[in-house]
Amino acid sequence: MQTTTSTLTNSPITFQLTEDQALIRDTVREIAEAEFAPKAAEVDQKHRFPRENWDLLAASDLCGLPFPEEYGGANLDHVTYAIVVEELAKACATTSVMYSAHVSLTCAPVFTFGNEEQKQRILKPMCLGEKMGAFCLSEPGTGSDSAAATCTAVLKDDHFILNGSKNWITNGIEADWYLVIAQTDTAKRHKGLVALMVEKGSEGFTFGKLEDKLGIRGSSTCQIMFDNTPVPKANMLAEQGDGFKVAMSTLDGGRIGIAAQAVGIAQGAWNHALRYSKERAAFGKLIGEFQAIKHMLAEMQTEIDAARLLTYHASVAQDLGKKFTMEAAHAKLYAAEVAMRSTVKCVQIFGGYGYVSDYPVERYMRDAKITEIYEGTSEIQRLVIASNLLKGI
Ligand code: CAA
Repeated sequence: MQTTTSTLTNSPITFQLTEDQALIRDTVREIAEAEFAPKAAEVDQKHRFPRENWDLLAASDLCGLPFPEEYGGANLDHVTYAIVVEELAKACATTSVMYSAHVSLTCAPVFTFGNEEQKQRILKPMCLGEKMGAFCLSEPGTGSDSAAATCTAVLKDDHFILNGSKNWITNGIEADWYLVIAQTDTAKRHKGLVALMVEKGSEGFTFGKLEDKLGIRGSSTCQIMFDNTPVPKANMLAEQGDGFKVAMSTLDGGRIGIAAQAVGIAQGAWNHALRYSKERAAFGKLIGEFQAIKHMLAEMQTEIDAARLLTYHASVAQDLGKKFTMEAAHAKLYAAEVAMRSTVKCVQIFGGYGYVSDYPVERYMRDAKITEIYEGTSEIQRLVIASNLLKGI
């Protein structure tokens, strides 16, 4: 039997942030606390896409953070990227997913699989924050089973003609560039898929209704439809038939972003619960003095720290340039479940006040749930981890 070892074995890991990482964390925290957190409840209640938050991320040179400067990026590492996503999620989960769907699900595949012309034409304006990205893999009838995509792409001369629809598209109505995975030959299943960059405004490209979601309610999620939509062959990433690999390796990076988002949601809710435990009195003392509350706070922070370390671990693996599928799945699986467990406990600490929208913890609990679902459910992460562990048997 072939044994699977971590890609990080013998790698020089320290969990001390560099000066630059700490500086960016502090800067983004300051922006998020001052600008995003105060509006998070309103964004949630009104289902309002906070376009001004995107503009501020762009003005802060964050939209292309891990990509080279020649493409408009900041040339920073993926640990820094995870730190930024966490800080955004602590303040406003909607803003963190708007950002991560753009960076890790759209910019990253153009950087990894695009040619030089595509990087200059498509990636650069996205890194500069002039254009926003969205990732279109799921369909009304295919979620976890991505290879079963039925949206078709037929090559005619120098254009693909797209027909079909895509579901649950983050940044749906708001994006400018859409990475669409479509089928060129159903008989070939995953080997028939192609990855195409489709521009908003293309002929026959329309939007369905905005989804009314449990959480991340300011995020623009909708169905998109293609009716004989022409897409230049020049917008194809990699080769025809590579669409599944483009999608899966993109999701490896995306899952680290969702792990960081989950850590941020959990830490944000915990911060509120800690503050409340020091303010709220019952039976003649502060509730933080009761062992039941102390244990909850201690367990939660232990798990959140562990989730953060798994997220950094996966980010380091990504920066080492090796395959990091398993590390990303570990981080996403654990962080998402920690976010759900912790936010439920935070609501419990607030008691009745946790159940109403006067305090933010119920929003964190609703926001946490999606991290166990999108970019691969927790069940899919277990499958990915197991199939990597059992490879070669
Ligand atoms: N990187 C590169 N290639 C990969 C890969 C990866 N991480 N994982 C698999 N592949 C390759 C395999 O090597 C294999 O290649 P060959 O055919 O050359 O041998 C090929 O892909 C097929 O692999 P599998 O047999 O493992 O594929 P499968 O059909 O059994 O699917 C799966 C595996 C894990 C279930 C996968 O389909 C999956 O991850 N599904 C979940 C999809 C998902 O996360 N959807 C979320 C959509 S995005 C979203 O949430 C919206 C948003 O906007 C936030």
